[in-house]
Amino acid sequence: MSQLFVPAETAALMADLAVSARRSPDAYLAAARATLNRILSRPDLLDPSRLSARNPGLSRNLLFGTGEISVWAMVWSPGTVTPVHDHHCSCCFGLLRGALRETWYRPISDTHAVPTLDAVREAGFVACMLPSGPNLHRIANDRPEEAVSIHVYGYDHRTQDTSIHRTYEVAAG
Ligand SMILES: [Fe+2]
Repeated sequence: MSQLFVPAETAALMADLAVSARRSPDAYLAAARATLNRILSRPDLLDPSRLSARNPGLSRNLLFGTGEISVWAMVWSPGTVTPVHDHHCSCCFGLLRGALRETWYRPISDTHAVPTLDAVREAGFVACMLPSGPNLHRIANDRPEEAVSIHVYGYDHRTQDTSIHRTYEVAAG
């Protein structure tokens, strides 16, 4: 009987990415993008038990973590929506399955923001950004199916709870 575990190939990919995190921001983002593309094209590199929902809404399942980066599988139940937020660290993500709506916002104060762009991210989509901001966005699963995304953040999950720097209310139009 086969056993579920993180393959050695995945562990090596993640360890290489953690080393890349000490390089220049551009080199790191290129490495993170390449790693996400590799994972999305090879879902067998992931333990399927880490790709299922553990609770309603958003499930955050840790895949790998070091002092430099943390890698998560996020499972989005239908109807799940994040607050409008920005990040205190680099943020890269790729869609493994399903689809997510990403809406971008422009801050008009420390507490409020207005929407600027809106896009549906399908399976295979990969994006990376630095906390050079303002990079405010909101992610929602407005489809009837579950969605799974893989996120690579430039923070140590053992010392910080979240990649989110600040959340915003949507300004009344
Ligand atoms: Fe985010």
